[in-house]
Amino acid sequence: MLNETDKVWLHGVIAKISNKMEWVSEKTKDKIPYTTINGTYDDRSADNPTGDAADGLCWWTNGFWGGMMWLMYHETGNEKYKEIAQISEGKLDQCFQDYYGLHHDVGFMWLPTSVANYRVTGNPESRKRAMHAANLLAGRFNLAGGFIRAWNDLEGQDTRGWAIIDCMFNIPLLYWASEETGDPRFKQIAMKHADTTMSAFVRADGSVNHIVEFDPFNGVVVKTYGGQGYEEGSSWTRGQTWALYGFMMSYIHTGKEEYLQTAKRIAHYFIANIPDSGVIPVDFRQPAEPRREDDTAAAIAACGLIEIAKRVGPYEKDFFLNAAIKLLRTLDESRSDWTESTDAILQNGTGAYHSKTHHHAIIYGDYYFIEAIFKLKGNDLYLW
Ligand code: GLY
Repeated sequence: MLNETDKVWLHGVIAKISNKMEWVSEKTKDKIPYTTINGTYDDRSADNPTGDAADGLCWWTNGFWGGMMWLMYHETGNEKYKEIAQISEGKLDQCFQDYYGLHHDVGFMWLPTSVANYRVTGNPESRKRAMHAANLLAGRFNLAGGFIRAWNDLEGQDTRGWAIIDCMFNIPLLYWASEETGDPRFKQIAMKHADTTMSAFVRADGSVNHIVEFDPFNGVVVKTYGGQGYEEGSSWTRGQTWALYGFMMSYIHTGKEEYLQTAKRIAHYFIANIPDSGVIPVDFRQPAEPRREDDTAAAIAACGLIEIAKRVGPYEKDFFLNAAIKLLRTLDESRSDWTESTDAILQNGTGAYHSKTHHHAIIYGDYYFIEAIFKLKGNDLYLW
């Protein structure tokens, strides 16, 4: 339960989000942003920083801007948010033609855009797009290993047997496809992938691996990688949150009790590692110096913790809810820029521990922060 102080704080944050999104949406309506450059959103629908098909219009985060607009439409009823969401959704059609830029992240791309549009408006074109994406995702399933292949080949790296923890966030697209069509194949694949993830990624202490490599011919685990975290065997915080919230989503769609228990185990590990400051590092097992933090992980964790809190008894509920509120208050009070000097809200996201740059705006940080705040209010639009 939120106490009176929390309610006042929440009310204030919602007002700040509404004010900021009012003007940011206007100036960004024809873009699909990823980060800010000198305070202004870039445009991944027009710019391609590396020339790789997956890094421009088909960049994996290109669903989040549309998702933010749907959240704002649900909150305010202002038609302009719906229209802006639909502009970005339409642009993504080109990715089906390009094809090579697409990999398992089609869930991140089309759940907050086309599935959201279909859920809200019933638009048959959006349903068709989402079904295309779901079929692409299902087509990446490896029968021998019971996992969904993550990326396409990376330079000099055979990734046929690679699965990554982030995929727990893509498989809700498969649950949606089965719920929508009545065809169980999509859900069967999603559950098989979730079961494999439970056994091959989640460690005894509740932490998770980022990447597991399977032999793509016989399904045997070959090795694990640290991926976007510090090193092999470490604990990349955003990966922990893809797992925490991801298993909750699998529980919500299937009712399978083990998914809830797994989400709770990961959540206990995560909460036990939150520093007193409430600021989340890039990896829970990184060295103390240099300082490397990732606000996106805090925002995603908060969403997952609130979803757990909705489905447990009163004592546990407060435990998970209070942890989420601590993360969100830290984000609001010391990690956000509410002024007009920058388009983004959260200022300290980090893509990967070993990235060249750290502590910058990343679109999904703002997306999950807004989702978490509306969840706390109790009337969020559930896009997953
Ligand atoms: N899904 C990739 C990432 O979290 O950076």
